[in-house]
Amino acid sequence: SLSGLQGLKTGTLNLSIVTTAKYFIPHLIGEFSKEYPQIDTRFRVGNRQQIIDQLAVGEADFYVFSHPPEGMDLELTEFMPNRLQAIAPLDHPLAGQDMVSLQQFCEAPFLMREEGSGTRHAIEVRLSRLGYRPNIHMTIESNEAIKHSVMSGLGVSILSEHTLAFGESSGVAVLNVEQLPIISHWYLARLKSKPLSPVATEFLEYAHKFDQGQVLGG
Ligand code: PGA
Repeated sequence: SLSGLQGLKTGTLNLSIVTTAKYFIPHLIGEFSKEYPQIDTRFRVGNRQQIIDQLAVGEADFYVFSHPPEGMDLELTEFMPNRLQAIAPLDHPLAGQDMVSLQQFCEAPFLMREEGSGTRHAIEVRLSRLGYRPNIHMTIESNEAIKHSVMSGLGVSILSEHTLAFGESSGVAVLNVEQLPIISHWYLARLKSKPLSPVATEFLEYAHKFDQGQVLGG
């Protein structure tokens, strides 16, 4: 519960997040800021590789990944699922099918994120384990640009559902492809070597209380 003292807490919360997390981390911060209005939040957004590079700089209190790097001294807090969904233009022939085979999906021209993207990494790992490769037609550095390119009929893709609007209005069809979606989780990562500031401690407790419904609601 809120105590009068919380409103007096001050300090800076410094976050470094992957591009797909920018759809929900601001909502989490919005709620957090209502409880702690004196806290100044900064966040940096980049692809997975850029955020891994930020770990070496070591400035942020938390790093948000869905595919955290191995072999770094990180404390990870898992906080909600991340589903990577197959998408196609609304009028695409695959969009009308009850079930799409991976073979069919991988033959369609595919719009892929850049090298260094965690989304790309997850797609490559999953498909190659299953013995498939996407038919890469374009490489695009932005989730939004991929979504709009799919809308305009340039190809199919796999994107985190966080990048899609929910319900009928997303503008793309979510395909029912065998072996998909790719399900991973979001993690708040913290360098064990960096002491938790009072503000970071509050935020960590706060993040634990959040579930997906709260973050995405509305
Ligand atoms: P990215 O983010 O594709 O922008 O790197 C997603 C992730 O790292 O899981």
